[in-house]
Amino acid sequence: MSMLEACLFDLDGVIVDTAKYHFLAWRQIAQELGFVFTEADNERLKGVSRQRSLEILLEIGGVALEPVDKERIAAKKNALYLQYVHKMRPEEILPGARDFLIECRKVGLKTALATASRNAQVILDLLQIAALFDVVMDGNKVSRTKPDPEVFLNCARDLGVAPSRCAVFEDAEAGIEAAIAADMLSIGIGQPEILKRADLVVPGLAHISIAGLRAASDKKKNAVA
Ligand code: G6P
Ligand code: MG
Repeated sequence: MSMLEACLFDLDGVIVDTAKYHFLAWRQIAQELGFVFTEADNERLKGVSRQRSLEILLEIGGVALEPVDKERIAAKKNALYLQYVHKMRPEEILPGARDFLIECRKVGLKTALATASRNAQVILDLLQIAALFDVVMDGNKVSRTKPDPEVFLNCARDLGVAPSRCAVFEDAEAGIEAAIAADMLSIGIGQPEILKRADLVVPGLAHISIAGLRAASDKKKNAVA
C-alpha cells in the first residue's frame, strides 16, 4: 500500500518551458554587457534564483558590477522576460502536465507548486491552472533556493503532509538534490544521465502514471526498510 499523499511540482521545465524565455532575456543582457551567452551556459541557471543567475552570468562574462547596477540589471532582465511571458497561451503547458495534475487530485493526492520563480502566479494564471494547486510556494516565500530543501519542506508543512509522503517532480539537478535533502521521493523530468540521483527519471509528465508513481514510492520504501 503506497504511503504517498502529495505531489510537489517545479514550474520551469516541468509544467512549462520558460527556460527559453529566461535564456533570451539573459542573452540580451549579456549582449548589452558585451559578451556572448550560449544555451549551454543557460543550463547553469536552471532552478537558480534571479540574483544568483545574474552572479553566474557576470562570472561567465568576466564582468564586475556594483550592487546598485546588479539591481538595475536584474530588474531589466525581468522586464524582458515578462514581455515573453505575457505572450504565453494555455497551450504552452508541457504535454501531460494538466492531465497529470487532474489525475493526482482525482485520486486524492494533494498538489503544490514549488519554484524559485517570483513570477509563478502570473504564469499559473496565464496557463489557467492556478486552481489545480493546493499550495503555491514561490520565490517570494522562500529565502534559501534549491539545493536547499526549504521550498519543498514549506510545501509539506502547508499541505499538512509528512515530507516522506511527498513526491517531487524536478528538471534541475539542484532540485533533485533539494528533494533528497527533504527526504522526499524524487522524480526527475529529463535525462537520466543528468538527473543521476533521482529515484526515477521520465522525459515528461506525459510519461508517468499514478500507478507508476506509487510503484516508485513502494520501491523506495522497501529499499529503505
Ligand atoms: C526558476 C528557473 C530559473 C529562474 C528562477 C527565478 O527556478 O528555473 O532559471 O532563474 O526560477 O525566476 P524568476 O521568474 O523569479 O526570475
Ligand atoms: Mg525547473
